[in-house]
Amino acid sequence: MGDGGATQRESLEALLQEARLFRPAPEFSKNANAGDAEIYARAAKDLEGFWADEAKRLDWIEPWKKVLEWDAPWAEWFVGGKLNVAANCVDRHAASARRNKAAIIWEGEPGDTRVLTFGMLQREVNRFANGLKSLGVKKGERVAIYMGMIPELAITMLACAKIGAPHSVVFGGFSAESLRERINDAQAKVLITADGAWRRGNVVPLKANADAALEGTPSIEKVVVVDRVGKQANATMKAGRDVTWDELVKDASDKCAAEPMDAEDMLYILYTSGTTGKPKGVVHTTAGYLVGVSTTHHYIFDVKENDVYWCTADIGWVTGHSYIVYGPLANGCTSLMYEGSPDYPDRGRFWSVVSKYGVNIFYTAPTAIRTFMRWGREWPARYDLSSLRLLGTVGEPINPEAWIWYHENIGRQRCPIVDTWWQTETGMVLMSPLPGLVPTKPGSATRPFPGVEADVVDEKGRTVPPGAGGYLVLTKPWPAMFRTIYGDPERYVRQYWSRYEGKYFTGDGAKRDEDSYFWLLGRVDDVMNVAGHRISTYEVESALVDHDSVAEAAVIGKTDAIKGQAIASFVTLKEGTLPSDALKRELREHVAARIGSIARPDEIFFTSELPKTRSAKIMRRLLRDIAEGRLLGDTTTLADSAVVGKLKQQYEEEG
Ligand code: PRX
Repeated sequence: MGDGGATQRESLEALLQEARLFRPAPEFSKNANAGDAEIYARAAKDLEGFWADEAKRLDWIEPWKKVLEWDAPWAEWFVGGKLNVAANCVDRHAASARRNKAAIIWEGEPGDTRVLTFGMLQREVNRFANGLKSLGVKKGERVAIYMGMIPELAITMLACAKIGAPHSVVFGGFSAESLRERINDAQAKVLITADGAWRRGNVVPLKANADAALEGTPSIEKVVVVDRVGKQANATMKAGRDVTWDELVKDASDKCAAEPMDAEDMLYILYTSGTTGKPKGVVHTTAGYLVGVSTTHHYIFDVKENDVYWCTADIGWVTGHSYIVYGPLANGCTSLMYEGSPDYPDRGRFWSVVSKYGVNIFYTAPTAIRTFMRWGREWPARYDLSSLRLLGTVGEPINPEAWIWYHENIGRQRCPIVDTWWQTETGMVLMSPLPGLVPTKPGSATRPFPGVEADVVDEKGRTVPPGAGGYLVLTKPWPAMFRTIYGDPERYVRQYWSRYEGKYFTGDGAKRDEDSYFWLLGRVDDVMNVAGHRISTYEVESALVDHDSVAEAAVIGKTDAIKGQAIASFVTLKEGTLPSDALKRELREHVAARIGSIARPDEIFFTSELPKTRSAKIMRRLLRDIAEGRLLGDTTTLADSAVVGKLKQQYEEEG
């Protein structure tokens, strides 16, 4: 836990006074997948029956014997069932009338495009699955993936699923060191990467980073390299270890039987930042996960057979796993995958993609929406966005102004907005309006998904009254919940399930209003949310103190109008080292090189002392007060209360 429970949303009172209510349009409600409010009552009355019905949307090799085995905090869903995720996401559609329907529409950065129908996707997945087998990958062995947003990324994930080898996707923006740490934790046997990735016309040297990472990864035997960029990537191949994608699949058969997987077999590991220590390997399993993501995708995004659905996340994060790859494809939906950034070649890029493909459902992050707001309404105004039917947001709280801007300028006042709250750990959306059914309030994720039960509690675990702030907890299991932390079950129990007996502690603050609508208030622990990316203060501090000049560092998330939070760091230098702007730049780059550029501090502030309690704990809460220009909170526990006053004055002078 953090030291004060300060959250991202300081103007709570203003927020709770947000009284605008947007009722579903009758024409939308008439055809909504969610049907009527009976869905909530049905799930509340019979949780297992509800999920058993939803599980019928999948093809099973063997039916389950029991829906749920719940021995808190250990869950097993669809006990005894057997199925294969790739067979559900690809093969069954390829064997149906959807064979020639687009599964993945890929829009690449320098003008490249590719459309894979379910039939084509099946052949690619099978060929690569056979390629993996030829490298010696067996069921249960981990495959690391470090790639940009190219179709081969989705193909690799599905090929892993096909042969029962859990994948661990590492976001392509992470550094060599972050990649190495994740490979070693997962003990991955092979790495699938690309020579490089395109980013705003520049090349991200993925293979070079991978080579650096692989200097300390004894478990890796083989590396497969996609030729994405070509010569400009300057990638080199290591004989005996590295093979190109094309070589590997050249003679591979396009037939591959799906491995029958147990409902609880591991589907993937995805690393995420925690409050302390190294990143945690969140483990998702087969049946519950796929039931959870396909069901939520169906109801929340209201997808119809001919819709084009676009989630703008990177597949390196959970949003991309659940809502670009697994959920949509399980539902036989056309999922658009975009390689580039929103402002390349210009700021109208997203809207040109929407009009080019006639996107019907668009899912993005509040930080992107706030950026579009800053760029101005004239950008989207130039494009025909009439295909859009539904909008979504995820990753952080959305401020009502951004919600309204989205509604007016992108949704043109026609499209419902689903504000979806969830986490890497939850695997699927747990809180969101069901479009066509639940009236929305700008800034509120409204209510839990059917069958999901949430509560807002105080320190002691008591439910707080409406309007009061507290900790968001989940009181019932859900199928896509993570099952453990890879290699560290004790941490799973300690971090998530020990604070309140039998309840899942989310790490988020929340309030419930008089209508029982939930308002998410940001993290209450030492996890920052920077432009929708989850970064722990601890990781950035470790990277800073690892620099020769740094004696001590304290990092906080400072409220930022566009990114939600910006990374502010307070640094004390070693004896004899002089502060300078050059050193600030060096430290920022040092962190970027250690973790990845998403973790590059926005601010570095040199100080001779940090405010500490008598037990020598740094009081980040006070640093947040300083950085955000507030009056200082309670300072009575400080060892030396003069330090913080001086620091505040100095910060304001330099600011
Ligand atoms: O603080 C919440 C915030 O993002 C955290 C989870 O981050 P991550 O595991 O990276 O997953 C992000 C995408 C699912 C949560 O603890 N968060 C996510 N969605 C919302 C949100 N906060 C408020 N509203 C949301 N809709």
